[in-house]
Amino acid sequence: ETFLAYFETKGHQRVASGPLVPQNDSTLLFTNAGMNQFKDVFLGRDQRNYKTATSSQKCFRASGKHNDLETVGRTSRHHTFFEMLGNFSFADYFKKEAIEYAWDLCTNVYKLSSDSLIVTVFREDEEAFSIWKDHIGIPRDRLFKMGEEENYWSMGETGPCGPCSELHYDFGVSPLGHLDCTVDCDCGRFMEIWNLVFMQYNRDSSGTVTPLPSPSIDTGMGLERITAVLQGVQSNYDTDLFRPLIEESCRLSGIAYGENEKKDVSLRILADHSRASAFVVNEGVIPGNEGKGYVLRKLLRRALRHGRTLGIDQPFLSSLTSLASEMMQDSYPELTDSRDYCARVVEAEEEKFNSTLSHGMQLLDEIVA
Ligand code: GLY
Repeated sequence: ETFLAYFETKGHQRVASGPLVPQNDSTLLFTNAGMNQFKDVFLGRDQRNYKTATSSQKCFRASGKHNDLETVGRTSRHHTFFEMLGNFSFADYFKKEAIEYAWDLCTNVYKLSSDSLIVTVFREDEEAFSIWKDHIGIPRDRLFKMGEEENYWSMGETGPCGPCSELHYDFGVSPLGHLDCTVDCDCGRFMEIWNLVFMQYNRDSSGTVTPLPSPSIDTGMGLERITAVLQGVQSNYDTDLFRPLIEESCRLSGIAYGENEKKDVSLRILADHSRASAFVVNEGVIPGNEGKGYVLRKLLRRALRHGRTLGIDQPFLSSLTSLASEMMQDSYPELTDSRDYCARVVEAEEEKFNSTLSHGMQLLDEIVA
């Protein structure tokens, strides 16, 4: 709310989240970023009655170009489902204003110490580099140039893209005890909180990159990450967005969180996947063998497998998805209506998976014997 209200005071139109299942875009299985609903505006094929916008977008990154499925649980900050806060300019302001807004919101509204923020820019983007260095005054030892992998953002294999600049939060302490690591280390000391994309190009299916009709802005801040920073914890799973799901997973499995890293990974996977499943099922996807249904099936079965690893031998996943729906219902009232339906879909998949697994185990036992 703070993010959206801030950009409203700067004249941005507050726009509701688009659906998780894109309506008119065959290049995506699921919405993977806040800019998806504005793709045609960036491309100059659609026009809105506003030139700047802000939104909190439901995103799901478990397939396609942005796929964090295998990372979830192993890190403290990746999710399959998350909410992306963004501000957008459609041929209105560009780099300087986008950077000024980001810095103002972080330091004057969220009141993050400027010493705790590290900035990266694309190595060829001298303009962004000098805005940060000379206009904002970021010291040289907290401003880094990075390559394409880190600082060039594309929506997918095709579509809008451009160089980007990221704000990272420095927690000051490495969970792995590193003493001299820098922003590109993934030990957990640094967390990327906001990506400012300077949308300038479109990549077509032949790989050809052409300039957009007008330079534009697309930013993405992970709500779960800024929540961790503002709640003073180093892991998204320790925020109030996830803690009740972790606690319920502990209750179901009889396992304490924070005592064994392997089990913690499984507990985090249950928390993440149950929340994501509630949202995906709510949009009418059912487990299946292809496309979106297959991605959902993979997600549910991964959660079920980790539940087994934790020693849960009762059906459990539907109670977790129901809890996730309850937790998110204030912002997404539609989850209340679909809560029971979602529980039934998850229960059916759990039954099916258990019988597949029992049959498989029987076959394996026979072969081993
Ligand atoms: N579109 C910006 C991001 O996803 O990081």
